[in-house]
Amino acid sequence: MRERVAQIRHEALTALSQAVDLTALDAVRVAVLGKKGSLTGLLRAMQDVPPEERPAIGALVNEAKAQIEAALDENKARIIGEDRARSAATERVDISLPGRKPPRGSLHPLTETLDEIVSIFERMGFVWEDGPEVETDWHNFGALNFPPDHPARDAQDTFFLENGLLMRTHTSPVQVRVMQRHQPPVRMLAPGWTYRNDAIDATHYPMFSQVEGLLVDKHVTLGDLKGVLKYFVREFYGPETKIRMRPSFFPFTEPSAELDISCFVCHGSGELDHAVCPLCKGTGWKELLGSGMVDPAVFTAVGYDPEEVTGWAFGIGIERVALFRYKVDDIRLFFEGDLRFLRQF
Ligand code: DAH
Repeated sequence: MRERVAQIRHEALTALSQAVDLTALDAVRVAVLGKKGSLTGLLRAMQDVPPEERPAIGALVNEAKAQIEAALDENKARIIGEDRARSAATERVDISLPGRKPPRGSLHPLTETLDEIVSIFERMGFVWEDGPEVETDWHNFGALNFPPDHPARDAQDTFFLENGLLMRTHTSPVQVRVMQRHQPPVRMLAPGWTYRNDAIDATHYPMFSQVEGLLVDKHVTLGDLKGVLKYFVREFYGPETKIRMRPSFFPFTEPSAELDISCFVCHGSGELDHAVCPLCKGTGWKELLGSGMVDPAVFTAVGYDPEEVTGWAFGIGIERVALFRYKVDDIRLFFEGDLRFLRQF
């Protein structure tokens, strides 16, 4: 019995010291100390030992068990240490390696254009106002002096909803809503989506965006409008940009004017590299926005007294500005979400 204990202990300690991984270590533990292990078997065989020898043999077995358990712990620590040393040598992190760049998004070119336009007017004290994209006929047309069945409506065909509402064709109805809510003076900006029932081509899309501006107070003149627009144009297109106003027509302004800017490709000469300028087609001017003095009928519709106040308004199409600015030749590119296009900005 004594030799058997010594033998088991010797074999176990040798096997443990030679184990190369934790699995091998555990196999030894099971084989020796497990339920059916060799040392456990010895304890069970104690009944065959003469009673007077049992305490001594028992002590011997327990001592061997304690030694083996200690060796298990030691070798476990050894193996883990060896593992760490090995991975530290082979899997070393090179901290001088440049990191992987996370993919970075960027602002959509339309958002960028809109933000820049808005920030220039905000510097002049214009306040951002929102209005619904689903509008009543009255806010979109009626209050803006479009009589029912008037041909002016034809240019702004839109999508009609079953309940009589419609998708707004311009941001001008926000003028109406703001004036209904606030007494004069008013100095507002209304950027947002607008909709028209237009066939899609390189310059038309059924959804587009505008920025609306409105200023109402006592003694507001067309000269104020020209001054504000001139400041905007020079901030946005550069200080040498020239402007001109051409008579135009909008139902909600009287008089109405189209604002042109000197072409920023040929600088107003109409010529580029001895050929006709591709942007302004040789005219030297580029149409930018619609504007005018608020028609008294609009003031009456919102409950303002046209004898008391005057005002002016303007509307800019964002896609148009962005198309020329980024030299993009097809409006559809702004809406397709093609990353190959968007990554260029
Ligand atoms: N709402 C017009 C359009 O979409 C643009 C416009 C013209 C807005 C003149 C105005 C304005 O506020 O005064 O065609």
